[in-house]
Amino acid sequence: MKYNFDEVIDRSGTNSVKWDQESLKHLFGESDAIPFWVADMDFKSAQPIIDEIVKRAEHGIYGYSVRPDSYFEAIINWIKRRHGWTIEKEWIEYTPGVVPAINYLIQAFCEPGDKVIIQNPVYYPFSNSIKENGCTVADNTLIFNDDHYEIDFEDFEKKSRDPKVKMFILCSPHNPIGRVWTKEELIRLGDICLKNNVIVVADEIHNDLVFSGYKHIMFGSIREDFRMNSITCTAPSKTFNLAGMEISNIIIPNPEYRRKYKKVLDKNSIGNQNPLSIVALEAAYNKSEDWLDHLLNYLEENIDFIHKYLAENLPKAKLINPQATYLGWLDFREYERSGKKLENFVYHKGKVALDGGTWFGNGGDGFLRINFACPRSLLKEGLKRICTVIKEEYD
Ligand SMILES: Cc1ncc(COP(=O)(O)O)c(C=O)c1O
Repeated sequence: MKYNFDEVIDRSGTNSVKWDQESLKHLFGESDAIPFWVADMDFKSAQPIIDEIVKRAEHGIYGYSVRPDSYFEAIINWIKRRHGWTIEKEWIEYTPGVVPAINYLIQAFCEPGDKVIIQNPVYYPFSNSIKENGCTVADNTLIFNDDHYEIDFEDFEKKSRDPKVKMFILCSPHNPIGRVWTKEELIRLGDICLKNNVIVVADEIHNDLVFSGYKHIMFGSIREDFRMNSITCTAPSKTFNLAGMEISNIIIPNPEYRRKYKKVLDKNSIGNQNPLSIVALEAAYNKSEDWLDHLLNYLEENIDFIHKYLAENLPKAKLINPQATYLGWLDFREYERSGKKLENFVYHKGKVALDGGTWFGNGGDGFLRINFACPRSLLKEGLKRICTVIKEEYD
């Protein structure tokens, strides 16, 4: 095998948030639970990335660093090659992470008391960032229709008309439900936002992790007026398992928006970048595409594995089929509708640490989110624990 994604790598002693026993005790009440929560992978990153980081580390001097032209070219070429969008160097801002960028964007474009639309159930730091910056969440809850999610456009339009609504945070592809939004859906959302002067922040951090049969469309690539009314956040962090490197590409084509954003960055002295992350990004985008294609195959096999395992062992539970991301939205409502009860039961009885559905806001009760970017043997052990305890209690 060219890449061994089955290899189980011991992450203890590496200060991993996901595996750290104190974190597990603090969040789940069980220090020895197996973790399938926070979104990083239990696979080694691609070899060219490791090699470049080692080479740079061996130099021994880790002073303040600038981003060379080759850094921007790597981002521009990647986005052109994988997503068909031609972006310009001047549009690309750096922030150490997409979540910090979202906070700075809220500070740049909203006043305390303003409202920001999100689509629950959604990545929970969105609502934290909105509230921490003195704004209010306007929740356009997604509609769950049998086995898939849809957007409630009528409600979206109604919420957008509120003059207090200044921003919409689009999660595309959507975490945790795994939807890849179609061009038609994006156009409908984008048009409503334009009509109502709502700025679109497109969090596309998962945009490289899309499975066969689906095509991710970058929001800013659709039309010039969308481009000028949006900020797009991408990163190599999810794609290449570089979350701890704290890299993000904040793409802001509109010069006026860029000016406002930079002002907030300057206020907070955000600018320099970790020298290891610079070489990591270049090696990821320039030399690691083949690794990514193999990773996607392995992840798809893990999805099949989950579907089969549930069908055989806990048939009333379902995985909402992910079209993208390595995060699976598991529906246990036929067994338990109380979110808190389900979560505590799986954490304490099953000794498995997953993000609880209730963490993601409205529509999360009775669901758990599983991070399936791990060797299959580990996935199997996690599923076995979950299915065994639920079966014993509810069947
Ligand atoms: C939708 C989404 N945005 C942002 C992040 C985190 O981004 P960062 O680590 O760059 O702050 C995640 C991580 O899971 C995510 O799922």
